Amino acid sequence: MPNTEKTAQLVMDKPLSVPAYSKWSDSELSQCTPNDFMQKLYHRAKDIGDDLYDSRTYEFFTLAPEIYQENLVLYMRRRAWSEWYFGTVAQAREITLLPENQVNLKLRLARQIQDEMRHYDVFTQQLRRFGSEPRIAEFELPPILVQMQKVQTEAKTASEIAAANQFAGEIVLSSMTDLETSIFKRLFDKELMDAIYDIEKDEPPHIANGKDLILLECETADQRRRLALAQEKYLGFMMQLHVTEIVKLGCRRMRPLPVFE
Ligand SMILES: [Fe+2]
Ligand SMILES: [Fe+2]
Repeated sequence: MPNTEKTAQLVMDKPLSVPAYSKWSDSELSQCTPNDFMQKLYHRAKDIGDDLYDSRTYEFFTLAPEIYQENLVLYMRRRAWSEWYFGTVAQAREITLLPENQVNLKLRLARQIQDEMRHYDVFTQQLRRFGSEPRIAEFELPPILVQMQKVQTEAKTASEIAAANQFAGEIVLSSMTDLETSIFKRLFDKELMDAIYDIEKDEPPHIANGKDLILLECETADQRRRLALAQEKYLGFMMQLHVTEIVKLGCRRMRPLPVFE
């Protein structure tokens, strides 16, 4: 086997490894500034998104059109469900848990709720194009999605919710559009991909909300460990759900899923 192929093979065999900050000691966690720790959490989620959505980590095959459409509809119904529940309830709780003096951040979160409802409507339009509706009240949640929801609902502070929401899922989802080799450019038609671009242009302010929420409780080792744990738990479940959905659209994952170590 030529050397280059061998190298490519090795990379594919080995999962992306990201740091398990929740397992770090107090002194390791306390070494950097709050801003640096927030950046570490950002990059960990972004690295996972870039790996998970990189078309080079999959091989493709053609599905029967009716199977593809059925799976795509299911994917978009799950996305609509997530816009509704992960885009309103979590932010409403963040607003409620924030101290009175955080007026500006509360207003930004209220604005985010408005954006997320628009995203729900974007998925509704796309579903109608494929002859379906979101029907979120009847949507049967995959068990792993229930686990993801649990991480958010069990979070005790606005910062921890952000670590499992704006600073987890929303960072990963940004790789759908800002990654040159995004797998979605191959799995979606142009109209659906344009809809995703339309949604994603709202995301930078949402991730900025997450950044400011994280920074509110990012001083002590204990706070940092709790933020890291919430993000780790959510991302661990999320990558399993997303890869399951992606492969049902006509591909096979070549590389093991990222690992926290
Ligand atoms: Fe959204
Ligand atoms: Fe968002």
